[in-house]
Amino acid sequence: LNKKNIRNFSIIAHIDHGKSTLSDRLIQLSGIISERDMKEQILDSMDIERERGITIKSQTVSLPYTAQDGKTYLLNLIDTPGHVDFSYEVSRALASCEGALILVDASQGVEAQTLANLYLAMEHDLAIIPVINKIDLPSAEIEWAKEQIEEDLGLDSDDAILVSAKTGIGVDKIFEIIVKKIPPPVSGDAGFFKALVFDSHYDAFRGTIVHFRIFEGSIKKGEKIQFMSNNAQYKVEEVGLFQIVRQPQDELIAGQVGYFIAGIKNISDVKIGDTVTMADKRCDKAMAGFREPTPVVFSSMYPVASDDYEELTEALEKLKLNDASLIYEKDSSVALGFGYRCGFLGLLHLEVVQERLEREYNVSLILTSPSVMYEITYTDGTIKIIDNPVQYPDPAEISRVREPFIKASIIVPDKYMGNVMQVCHEFRGVSKNYQYLTSNRMEMKFELPLAEVVYEFYDRLKSVTQGYGSFDYEIAGYQETDLVKLDFIINGERVDALSQLIHRDKAEARARTACKKLREEIPRQQFKIPIQGAIGGKIISRETISAFRKDVTAKCYGGDISRKRKLLEKQKKGKKRMKMVGSVEIPQSAFLSVLKTD
Ligand code: GTP
Repeated sequence: LNKKNIRNFSIIAHIDHGKSTLSDRLIQLSGIISERDMKEQILDSMDIERERGITIKSQTVSLPYTAQDGKTYLLNLIDTPGHVDFSYEVSRALASCEGALILVDASQGVEAQTLANLYLAMEHDLAIIPVINKIDLPSAEIEWAKEQIEEDLGLDSDDAILVSAKTGIGVDKIFEIIVKKIPPPVSGDAGFFKALVFDSHYDAFRGTIVHFRIFEGSIKKGEKIQFMSNNAQYKVEEVGLFQIVRQPQDELIAGQVGYFIAGIKNISDVKIGDTVTMADKRCDKAMAGFREPTPVVFSSMYPVASDDYEELTEALEKLKLNDASLIYEKDSSVALGFGYRCGFLGLLHLEVVQERLEREYNVSLILTSPSVMYEITYTDGTIKIIDNPVQYPDPAEISRVREPFIKASIIVPDKYMGNVMQVCHEFRGVSKNYQYLTSNRMEMKFELPLAEVVYEFYDRLKSVTQGYGSFDYEIAGYQETDLVKLDFIINGERVDALSQLIHRDKAEARARTACKKLREEIPRQQFKIPIQGAIGGKIISRETISAFRKDVTAKCYGGDISRKRKLLEKQKKGKKRMKMVGSVEIPQSAFLSVLKTD
């Protein structure tokens, strides 16, 4: 293999514009896998990914292609995750490429992540090929999409490839254009070894599989690699290409994309963005842009049944094998007993982890209010970062609190401008500037507190823009804030797991709706249950659940035994998801209901 015959590319797009569908098409076209296997082994293999239709974990594939010049090329498609929570992984994947297809849905046009991803691609100096997808849709507006490619993206729309990833129209042109427009890797023979880790995954039999792109030198089985972030050394057991299945190779050379296996037991020992070198062919400078994954949202997890704690521990350990960005440590709550405090890349990451734990590992969980990190300056001058309401000190000891902000970019048709402004202000955002992209679409920039975005910001944005608003963000540093700790007292007991940190202006409204929600969620019991929201010693809202003996069979007008049995079973199942807190049974759903704002 000559490196002139290698092309490394990614497909970048806004969510749902068809990246996975197009990837599948390209794999099919390359002929590396039979029709039948194709159906079973699609790129997004995880259940949750398929159901939610979003790519979470990237996978890479090497596609052989014989071009019009008669030469055979190896086209490496490096898949990128399609959600803002994972933008660091996107940037590492792009750093491993020389080019990118930028995919635009012909009926949706350019959206916030299309732009954000284009900027990332430009930072890495990639050759960019615009592709207009979904041209089969009756609502496709090809001319309009071309205009946006010219005006919003600043690319030549005459170069745009028109395709339908679904029907396959136009897709066959893509390989030839990749060969012609994307340059081969230039790196080569500097006399040392240098490669970039852009992903990793865990295999039960082989341990950690490292996905990497080689920039200098070559690599073979038996050689000793070294990670530059921590100098850890491992002996290479196998190198190879991804072709849906792993294809072991004798050697991989500069410019290639593939995997290595080196007896690395823990996926956390491999850091995405790290540089790999060799002790005896050491490069002196690591690749730029490396950073540790930083969780931004924190929540505690408790098993619904306290005796499931061991199971939760085991499930987290297993999940961690596949998700290096998940962090957790032991935690305990007066109300909920033993659990774990976990850090996530964002709210989607949190939801995915929760779903996987419940579905794949069969543990029922209670999650506490997600929190961001707050910087507390004490009156004596010390500074502490906290991410958990239980760590919040006595207000008398605090001289200043700062909270993290994000820079948000929102793209909408201009008729929704007023609505977007209003929602952003509702979420304590400050408008920075806006610009027209085309005559009726605009990009609006805001600074918003991350804590607000963690709640229902995105849903609200979608609803006030009738689905046309698209959103992207980056973390932008800390700003001063007026924070209070909101507690909930159920039947006289402060339930620590329900506490949340919130801006003072929002505390009362939140307390009121949360008490209402709790009243709806907690089933009546044989005694009256007062529910109160409080800041310090001050009660700011209250509700009462009146006493009632729940008789689920009352509805069944006598006769139908099977129906009765079903109801009883349902009630029994429901019980499993209840938690005794003091003398009150609180259902799992109540813990998340306190976060809802409507
Ligand atoms: P993420 O994984 O979230 O980034 O989404 P994606 O960009 O990979 O989108 P995906 O391939 O999952 O496609 C989104 C939806 O659009 C799916 O329902 C596809 O069936 C549909 N779709 C993709 N390409 C086409 C196309 O060319 N025509 C039509 N009509 N539908 C398409």
